[in-house]
Amino acid sequence: MHSLTPLHTFGLSARSKKLISVDNDFSILKSIDAPLWILGEGSNCVFLEDFDGTVIKVDSKGKTIKEFSDYFQLTVNSGENWHQLVCFCMQNGIFGLENLALIPGSVGAAPIQNIGAYGVELNQFIKQVVCIDIDSGEQQVLANEECKFGYRDSIFKRQLAGKVIITQVVLHIPKRWQACNHYGELAKLKQPSPEQIFAQVVAIRQAKLPDPKDIGNAGSFFKNPLVSNKHFASLQCDWPDLPCYSVDHNSVKVPAAWLIDHLGLKGKQIGGIQCHPSQPLVLTNNGTGSGAELLEMARHIQAKVESTFSIHLENEVNLIGNKGLVKL
Ligand code: EPU
Repeated sequence: MHSLTPLHTFGLSARSKKLISVDNDFSILKSIDAPLWILGEGSNCVFLEDFDGTVIKVDSKGKTIKEFSDYFQLTVNSGENWHQLVCFCMQNGIFGLENLALIPGSVGAAPIQNIGAYGVELNQFIKQVVCIDIDSGEQQVLANEECKFGYRDSIFKRQLAGKVIITQVVLHIPKRWQACNHYGELAKLKQPSPEQIFAQVVAIRQAKLPDPKDIGNAGSFFKNPLVSNKHFASLQCDWPDLPCYSVDHNSVKVPAAWLIDHLGLKGKQIGGIQCHPSQPLVLTNNGTGSGAELLEMARHIQAKVESTFSIHLENEVNLIGNKGLVKL
């Protein structure tokens, strides 16, 4: 048995039968029996208990840059660290990813949940995602449209979940840079440079979000829910200060942090699991928490939000039981 505790940032105690590190040769995949879990840096996966199969840790490193007249093309292997890639771009005058600074995790995991922060989502920069079909060993190249990106969503979470392993991500970053500083505290920056946005995003994240190095967590535990305009209008009668972000003509996105905060659940503890006191969308593990306690906390929050606001919160993190993904 191999310990998974240091391999996922939530840090629950868990083991797997087998653990295999893969760099650039993915041919081994064909000979591995299910259940199989593919892991990057483990910042969006929580192992709730021992995993009854093989965990593949993706460690493939390397990147190339090609310069074209109006954009840079970056081809990055999936085991690279996301934040280091953002820093590399900043140092080399390639701007656009600065709003996505300090998001934990690997490059290969980033398209799966279409990482996003402060008004920017990764899919704005993705040209292609290269992956290998686990059963056949064949390489597949998916163009941006084929990845079916949505808010914290992609084909890799749906039809292709568990079927492919992402080996490379190809980004196109336009040379013409435009600041994206409309979100929250970024709006106070007037005509900011890319470096100023980068510094501000790093400062906000460091101030608000707990560092997994200090306390176990996996970032936002829930997604921000979509609600219909009609439902939102009825909620506003009872909670006039309920914020929302526009999505389309029919629906708005509501901050789950506000709903949880409003229920007085900030700081709530169940055993070693806590609802974070300054960003309640994040659940933490003080090192003694268990999978059962985490499920109890998540279900408690979900039930309270459902009964008060008639809104169903979906988990954003992958919850992994002994055979694979489990539902809340
Ligand atoms: N809020 C409260 N009380 C709080 C905290 C927040 O009411 O204690 C409300 C406020 O109205 C605030 C709003 O929630 O304006 C939004 O809060 P915040 O800007 O912190 O962002 P979020 O919606 O909670 C999302 C992402 C984060 C991302 C930030 C910034 C999701 C699930 N989460 O959080 O992503 O960093 O926006 O863009 O979309 C992650 O995915 O792991 C993650 C951290």
